[in-house]
Amino acid sequence: MNASLKQQWLDHTAQTPGSLEIRGLSKHYSIEGKPLTVLQDINLSVKPGEFVSIVGASGCGKSSLLRLIVGLEAEYSGDILLDGERIDATSLERGIVFQDHRLFPWKTVEQNIAVALKNHPLAKKEKARLVAEHIQLVNLQGFENAYPHQLSGGMAQRAAIARALINKPKILLLDEPFGALDALTRVHLQRELQRLWVQQRSTMIMVTHDVEEALYLGDRVIVMDARPGRIKHEIQVDLPHPRERHSPRLQALKDELLTELVGSDHIEAPQPF
Ligand SMILES: Nc1ncnc2c1ncn2[C@@H]1O[C@H](COP(=O)(O)OP(=O)(O)O)[C@@H](O)[C@H]1O
Ligand SMILES: [Mg+2]
Repeated sequence: MNASLKQQWLDHTAQTPGSLEIRGLSKHYSIEGKPLTVLQDINLSVKPGEFVSIVGASGCGKSSLLRLIVGLEAEYSGDILLDGERIDATSLERGIVFQDHRLFPWKTVEQNIAVALKNHPLAKKEKARLVAEHIQLVNLQGFENAYPHQLSGGMAQRAAIARALINKPKILLLDEPFGALDALTRVHLQRELQRLWVQQRSTMIMVTHDVEEALYLGDRVIVMDARPGRIKHEIQVDLPHPRERHSPRLQALKDELLTELVGSDHIEAPQPF
């Protein structure tokens, strides 16, 4: 392998977690010729290694916000800066996990995770080592050669998380990653994600409908409101990790968060399992 390319890759993977700065962000879509303001004057600073949860009514622009941060949408007004650099395209520095795993059905777990390394200047052996390491990281040992249809929903999401983490992104965006899972699996994966976050030390932003999940994982919970999508409220979760789910402090914060959400007219119906 070309030595300088390899050095670039090593430098990239050694980068510190990202600091995200969003200033005066607005996003408009045009629907049948009429402008629709999806996000209005969003201001948000996320510290390196911080875990931020986002909750809010359906259609308030949560997914649009994540798509902008990941660079899937380049047109917006205001600034989105990661470590001072303006975001206007996708990059290996930013990973995303969606509610549906989006694995290729014709590839095995191992092959699906390796896809993320496709364009890297690493030797085949090094790629295989990284894939094996990440399969271990998400506890999928023994399922390397399984196809997505042979996995449970939780296992497929683990594979999707491994695929997103293999590039050591500075920031990982999670758009309702556990929204389609049963309650027990969700609790397991929340704990796993917490462990990965502590281990990887990357910045994470997670959108969720689950108020308990938002509080259990987040250093901060951002509450958004719809029409137009904007930040309405913010709660600091001043508790060390890992947290005790039934702690009185979390219960009190849950009451505060629910009051914020129920106060809005457009609370979303629960997701079907
Ligand atoms: N590509 C698009 N073109 C036009 N409107 C869009 C597009 N994507 C999202 N929207 C609209 O933007 C609003 C916010 O959507 P979204 O970001 O998916 O909200 P959320 O994830 O909070 O439910 C919705 O009214 C949706 O219809
Ligand atoms: Mg959404």
